[in-house]
Amino acid sequence: MYIGLDLGTSGLKGILIDENQTILAEAVAPLTVQRPHDGWSEQLPADWIAAAEAVLDKLALFGLSAVKGIGISGHMHGATVLNSADEVLRPCILWNDTRSHHEAAELDGDPMFRRLTGNIVFPGFTAPKLLWLRLHEPRVWEQIAKVLLPKDYLRLWLTGDYVAEMSDAAGTSWLDTGKRDWSDDCLQATGLTRAQMPRLVEGAEVSGQLRDVLAERWRLPKSVIVAGGGGDNAAAAVGVGVVRAGEALVSLGTSGVLFAANDRYQPAAETAVHSFCHAVPNTWHQMGVILSATDALNWYGNFVGQEAQMLTQELGVLKAPTKTAFLPYLGGERTPLNSALVRGAFVGLEHATDRAGGTRAVLEGVTYALLDCKNALAATGTKLDSLIAVGGGANSTYWLSAIATALDIAVKVPEQGDFGAAYGAARLAIMADTGQGSEIATEPPISAVIEPVYELTQAYAAGYDRFRAAQSVILTL
Ligand code: XUL
Repeated sequence: MYIGLDLGTSGLKGILIDENQTILAEAVAPLTVQRPHDGWSEQLPADWIAAAEAVLDKLALFGLSAVKGIGISGHMHGATVLNSADEVLRPCILWNDTRSHHEAAELDGDPMFRRLTGNIVFPGFTAPKLLWLRLHEPRVWEQIAKVLLPKDYLRLWLTGDYVAEMSDAAGTSWLDTGKRDWSDDCLQATGLTRAQMPRLVEGAEVSGQLRDVLAERWRLPKSVIVAGGGGDNAAAAVGVGVVRAGEALVSLGTSGVLFAANDRYQPAAETAVHSFCHAVPNTWHQMGVILSATDALNWYGNFVGQEAQMLTQELGVLKAPTKTAFLPYLGGERTPLNSALVRGAFVGLEHATDRAGGTRAVLEGVTYALLDCKNALAATGTKLDSLIAVGGGANSTYWLSAIATALDIAVKVPEQGDFGAAYGAARLAIMADTGQGSEIATEPPISAVIEPVYELTQAYAAGYDRFRAAQSVILTL
């Protein structure tokens, strides 16, 4: 048996699978995000551990005595800073926190960063957050002994070791992405050294062993291995078999991601496409990332006082887009805008706009933002043949149908969409334990293939034109 743990922004998910990759048990523990100031987004690492304990408590009801390995994944880019006693010095600054946009622009102004890391230094990446701490929280900065990504803090708790893996490390702005190693030059430009970084392994390698005290607590055998794992998007890709060039996924989680696997390193920083290492060796990937996907729908749900799931359920079959353009930039945007300061908007409200019309506008706006990502990927030469959908938003057939139609691409729906990253993490544990490779990352059972609705293609193209027009206006505000 193998366990996959995925530290998501809205909750920690756990999955237990057998050697044939059949799911035996699943568990979730919710997490919240604290936003003490505009543009800030934080979580307490202690809450991650409490959530992991709750999830392991639930999985243990199934019996964990046959577990051989654990794989971990988590939201990327977060800055978890520890002192020399492994004490957390402040709340983790998350992937969608844009407070460090001045510092990001400063680092990005040095051509070395794009040359070595293959990416824009986005405000959400880890390096500019450390520069921000140096300037604004010098007492914290002085004590930093280790900087860990969120799932690697979970690993420290699981194993006692400081280890990162390539797919997540590529999102720090400190990794030489082509060489798959820390860049001493990028670290130095941020005032840090390799000694403050965790050791690097591949996602499919062993990173350490479960601590005895935890093995005893949940009745696991001794010497259970913990695999390197992956950043949540790379792990989700392993979970749904997106590991070979030509394979792609759309993730509708708190963030929205259009992810393409590559067989070589294909940096194209100027497009605002992310080029990162994959979680399997010698493989890379690209992705367009938008900061608010289900986050935008949940925001609208809070606004109108209705659960997101209820809002999408009342929509029926796909309709022509609304006249209202929704710009989902609630906390800035990455691909293609790279703007920390841009904010969202509804443009074109009318008397007839009702709650359902607002829901449709929100889903359409996120869809068009993903079309922006598809166009950015195309500008790098990457074409997508079909997509496999993961994340909570994949439960909405209306949304997937809008994506299929606007992006002109078939969307496959796996039976276990919401557990993509945890499932991928468990697969990485199998690889690390048995030495098998990415051939075991096959496509999971598909429950439906959603084709574009061709009668609505033109209407969605016109909707995208309205979205782009509204976008150009709000960028001037
Ligand atoms: C990717 C990104 C998000 C987070 C949260 O670059 O920032 O997708 O990993 O899921």
